[in-house]
Amino acid sequence: MAPLDAALAATEPAAKPLRHDTIRHSLLGREAEAWEAVRSLGKFIRRPCDGVMLANADALEWLDEVPEDLISGIVTDPPYGLIEYEDKDHSKLREGRGGVWRMPPAIGGVERSPVPRFTVLTDADRKRLERFFQAFAERALRALTPGGHLMIASNPLLSTTTFACFEQAGFEKRGEIIRLVQTLRGGDRPKGAEGEFKEVTVMPRSCWEPWGLFRKPLSEKTVAANLRRWGTGALRRISPAEPFRDVIESAPTRASEREIADHPSLKPQKFMRQVVRAVLPLGVGVVYDPFVGGGSTLAAAARVGYKAIGTELNADYAVLACRAIPRLRSIHPEE
Ligand SMILES: C[S@@+](CC[C@H](N)C(=O)[O-])C[C@H]1O[C@@H](n2cnc3c(N)ncnc32)[C@H](O)[C@@H]1O
Repeated sequence: MAPLDAALAATEPAAKPLRHDTIRHSLLGREAEAWEAVRSLGKFIRRPCDGVMLANADALEWLDEVPEDLISGIVTDPPYGLIEYEDKDHSKLREGRGGVWRMPPAIGGVERSPVPRFTVLTDADRKRLERFFQAFAERALRALTPGGHLMIASNPLLSTTTFACFEQAGFEKRGEIIRLVQTLRGGDRPKGAEGEFKEVTVMPRSCWEPWGLFRKPLSEKTVAANLRRWGTGALRRISPAEPFRDVIESAPTRASEREIADHPSLKPQKFMRQVVRAVLPLGVGVVYDPFVGGGSTLAAAARVGYKAIGTELNADYAVLACRAIPRLRSIHPEE
């Protein structure tokens, strides 16, 4: 059974095959129209692999060009604090010191990648961050189909600010997905007085990552009617017997994936495949990642057989993602 047929059967066990055929036909037609409309937008459009398009463009400018009600789902890992990917701080990244980036202590002699520390954000940085996410949320709301979901990664220090912007823009909050992941954030003793305060930790060692889950309000009276009209309004189950869950155990991104895409915030394929798959309840439509980075969302979408488009502002990362996507898509086929 094709994924869409299986998903329709799972959503509406009582519906007749004829009806499924009609819904399938209309949703695939909508997907083809959406694909045609988005694939020509943006500068420097590339096609890293079948069913994936990538533009070297600013997400907000790109969204201004997108026709209304077109994108079926958004899955993204944005610049959490904004400044970490701006020229001033980004240029300090490879040195691993200065600005927002810091080098975590080496463990067992193994050097770790730099991580941004969001405690350095000033009030002005936070205001600017809020304005950025407000502008993004308004545009995302317009571009999504009614009932379309948006999943957005954040950090416990900033998620309150970021997530509020989506509710203010008109999204419904549908929960949070907790990625259980052991990171090297927090857990330190007071700097310069580690011996004196052996039993003190300044902040808890971070073991989770919040992903906000939002939905554009339905246009139809029920979820079922919205699914039939737009193919959106709900999430895809893991299987007919197993719903999608809001806590997902995850490991840090493996070295084999980092070797393919040397991006400082690369997310692991195993986790991305699970969340991207869930965003299209019937497995039909176009997924958008506004902040592509190394391409983990687009690669995961390609892996689960979805059409996907992304924007990345940094030209070097756009080139990197373009090369990495086909290889990330094929890695760990058992997952
Ligand atoms: C956290 S990273 C994404 C990492 C990605 N999820 C991965 O797994 O590689 C955020 C990315 O957004 C890009 N970015 C920042 N502002 C942007 C904007 N206005 N439009 C498009 N991309 C932007 C940055 O250059 C950075 O590569």
